[in-house]
Amino acid sequence: MSEQLSQASVWSRRDFFGRLGWLGFGLVSLTTVLAGMRSAFPRILFTPVTTFKAGLVDDFAIGEVSGKFKKDFRVWIVREAEGLYALFAKCTHLGCTPRWLAAEAKFKCPCHGSGFYKSGINFEGPAPRPLERVRIALAEDGQLIVDVGVKYRQEKGDWDRPGAFLKV
Ligand code: FES
Repeated sequence: MSEQLSQASVWSRRDFFGRLGWLGFGLVSLTTVLAGMRSAFPRILFTPVTTFKAGLVDDFAIGEVSGKFKKDFRVWIVREAEGLYALFAKCTHLGCTPRWLAAEAKFKCPCHGSGFYKSGINFEGPAPRPLERVRIALAEDGQLIVDVGVKYRQEKGDWDRPGAFLKV
């Protein structure tokens, strides 16, 4: 009888170690699969591109407010007789995207009605300050290069800095 009990306990110990083995195998397999899945998503920070080439100066007519880059870069390029500047299309009230109303020669924000002159200066509605300009310059190949990552604020005197206005 005691030999029978001893035999049963040997079998149950084998059973236990067998299951432990399978559990270890399962954990190692799971870790391998998770590590493989993790390697499919490398630790790279995807930052949006802020600089783009906008074409030649002569692609923009004097007096024009170009919305060519508004969809992709949230920028209007404005050409005047003396040069060009690039305005960031983000309302300085709560950040909506204004529209250029050519007939009224103004930018109008659809959210709360702020209005901005072609220069970007605010004149109506709750916007507390002008639209921001972004850096515009000439690249070596003669094309305009715009950097949305560099902003110029009129109320801080930034519009007098190179990059806020490109003389041509
Ligand atoms: Fe433009 Fe409020 S977000 S007026």
